[in-house]
Amino acid sequence: MEHGVAAACPLDSALKPGSLAPDFRLAHPRNASLSLSDLRGQPVVLAFYPPGWDPSRGEQIAQYNKILTQLPNLHAELMDFAVDGDWYDLRFAREQMRLPFLANPAPQAEIARLYGAEGCEALFVIDSEGRIQWSYRAPIGVPPRAEELVEALRSIAPPLREQIVPAQASRMTLTRRDFIAATLATAFALTLGARAAQAEPEAAKIGAKPMATAPASAGGDTMPITLNVNGAAHDLAIDPRATLLDALRERIGMTGSKKGCDHGQCGACTVLADGRRVLSCLSLAVAQQGKAITTIEGLAQGETLHPMQQAFLSHDGFQCGYCTPGQIMSAVGLLTEPVGPEDADVRENMSGNICRCGAYPNIVAAIQDVRKANTNAPV
Ligand code: FES
Ligand code: FES
Repeated sequence: MEHGVAAACPLDSALKPGSLAPDFRLAHPRNASLSLSDLRGQPVVLAFYPPGWDPSRGEQIAQYNKILTQLPNLHAELMDFAVDGDWYDLRFAREQMRLPFLANPAPQAEIARLYGAEGCEALFVIDSEGRIQWSYRAPIGVPPRAEELVEALRSIAPPLREQIVPAQASRMTLTRRDFIAATLATAFALTLGARAAQAEPEAAKIGAKPMATAPASAGGDTMPITLNVNGAAHDLAIDPRATLLDALRERIGMTGSKKGCDHGQCGACTVLADGRRVLSCLSLAVAQQGKAITTIEGLAQGETLHPMQQAFLSHDGFQCGYCTPGQIMSAVGLLTEPVGPEDADVRENMSGNICRCGAYPNIVAAIQDVRKANTNAPV
């Protein structure tokens, strides 16, 4: 948006879902003649927002996965992504994809006018045929409406309509940057939806169901998985939407990992997967097969506490204790990461673990004790 131009965000726009997206030339560094219409055949995300959007990679991945857990039939979990100019390279647990994400395309004001987005923060998901599948516009500074995103997911993935209920939408609180990141997840859903539609005629010939509506297992809504938790294999028939946290707490009965926010914001649910810190509330259980999951229950060796557990006790690194399992698991994960020697380094690398009781000084002291004693017992 050009500042100083007091264009008000129009309340209505001629560009409704289903409209052909107006074409424009992209300012592409390697291909000056590239236009939006040249990108037909794949979804495109077009965004207009003020400068200063700079979410961390972790924040974005967490938000993608929060959205993707609402699309259970996709069985998708974003592992990583890279940005290459206007393209996002997304690496999911089962496949990779490359999506154009055109943010504030130049000449910005002119294109914003074409899209009725002057004075707005606006997002458009354009489908592979060049039609606007979904759009969102709001005056700059107005908080995003998560319900609209969920509504878009419901319209883009019709088989999922019954599975995304209004209560879920009302629980979703999205920051603006989360909202933009989540739009990419919507584009991903759109891609799979298109693939499923193409597959449908072929599938119908042989009596099979298309990908997006295929049952997770012969048993209906569940699929069989094996989770390796604290060295023991657990065979489960599980709803593919289930998070690792719910699988641990509700199905395996390990309630040491806590559900604080269920939104990836507090760290109370932290566990280790192959030794790396994972927020189990944002991680699908089905995506954790084959990994060695370690929870707080698996740290002690018989009666002998893990050095980190002992240090938390010795330093009074807790008050109510609710955040403590997550703090300890995160601290154990930190021991094998390249973290600087200072207290400030520990504070920064533990910043994803919130303590409502404010036990932070003692937590840092406990972690530093273990680091200095070099007693990072293997987990
Ligand atoms: S419960 Fe997972 S981060 Fe809060
Ligand atoms: S000890 Fe109470 S929340 Fe951390």
